[in-house]
Amino acid sequence: MRGSGFLWGVSTSAYQIEGAVDADGRGRTIWDQFTRNPGAVANGDNGDIACDHYRRWPEDIDLMTELGVGAYRFSLAWARLLPGGIGQPNEKGIAFYDRLIDGLLERGIDPWICLYHWDLPQALQDRGGWANRDIAGWYADYAALVAARFGDRARAFATFNEPGVFTLSGYGGGIHAPGIKDSNAMMAAIHNVARAHHAALPVLRATGVPVGVIGAFWPMRGERPEDAGGAMMMDMLFNWACPDAIVTGAYPPMLPMLMGDVIEEEDLSAETAGADFIGINHYAPMYIRTNEAGEQELGAPPADVPLSGMGWHIDPPAFTAMLETVAERYPGVPLYVTENGIGLDEPDGDLNDSTRVAYLRDYLGALADARERGVDVRGYFAWSLLDNFEWAEGYAKRFGLVRVSPDDLTRRPKQSFHAYRNAIAAGVPSRSMPIGAI
Ligand code: BGC
Repeated sequence: MRGSGFLWGVSTSAYQIEGAVDADGRGRTIWDQFTRNPGAVANGDNGDIACDHYRRWPEDIDLMTELGVGAYRFSLAWARLLPGGIGQPNEKGIAFYDRLIDGLLERGIDPWICLYHWDLPQALQDRGGWANRDIAGWYADYAALVAARFGDRARAFATFNEPGVFTLSGYGGGIHAPGIKDSNAMMAAIHNVARAHHAALPVLRATGVPVGVIGAFWPMRGERPEDAGGAMMMDMLFNWACPDAIVTGAYPPMLPMLMGDVIEEEDLSAETAGADFIGINHYAPMYIRTNEAGEQELGAPPADVPLSGMGWHIDPPAFTAMLETVAERYPGVPLYVTENGIGLDEPDGDLNDSTRVAYLRDYLGALADARERGVDVRGYFAWSLLDNFEWAEGYAKRFGLVRVSPDDLTRRPKQSFHAYRNAIAAGVPSRSMPIGAI
């Protein structure tokens, strides 16, 4: 629905839905590798088949058409386009995205293309991945290929999905691919992601397509006085480090000291920085604890609050507040909510996801509140169209508006699918939108 001026969409990412990991010359990625590490992913799950979107994409476009979305945000698997990360392009991988993009445009759905949603080619990880300074150049070359092949049809480019998550969890905490626990590597990864955005920006912008970045924005809370410092540190590293460096060219004031010699003179500047929009992924507040060794770790939400199946605090006013905070921090940059949704433990046959319907109603209400307070939020993309591979949680937690049967991959819309269709038909988010039965 674009007539209303508000853009409605759904979001997915390549490794979480495509499957077909060996098809048509795709190279291996760090998630193909990481999922093989014993104990790394719940139930030993992996994305080998996922939703088989690589083959079933026409059916998935039909679902989007039924929803009435104006845009679809998906990510490109770098290793389908460049199996070795650099070097020779893989025409068959490019052709897959050509078909997908053309299929979307035929249905009047805008392709919102994210270049990186965590699935680095393993060949580049073998050379240090995001911790290697050379990656800014490798990424810029990949971006040039994307610009050349898809710049004529993309409606938006996002350089990265949630740098805060894949640098902290992948290189600091080791709970995501590539599974490294090394704070120096983590700092280097943060900085090289920012450098990569700066390096790729000119070639992507030359296409005339708006170029933004997508961040995970979680309010950080420390319940006890001794947790406050850790929560501030996490806020800086997770929420703001990369977005600040990408949008303004400068890190939050304290950070360069902590990053030390990772930063070289003239690496980043206000002139080479920039984003034409910011994508906001928001789910919940995060609770940070300082343990006895003085380290920060994930704490539990307070005992009496409502929780999602992921154990995340359902707190719609925190969403309104976060939208206001981001808008104040980056004045004049339009915002789009590029992910929001709820993960649940859903029994297979049950399509009555009334908890998700209530979540959608309340979070869209919170978004409407932010707009009323003057925040320039121009669109909302639900996470996610399909039940999919939820990283370290495997397939145990479900985020989809559509159930994907683990047995035969059939798609069945849940109650939330119909509720979201009603919301879209209403035009703009409001407190009174008729979302349907809960
Ligand atoms: C990620 C998605 C993920 C979702 C739910 C975001 O951090 O971008 O890939 O599935 O949150 O955990």
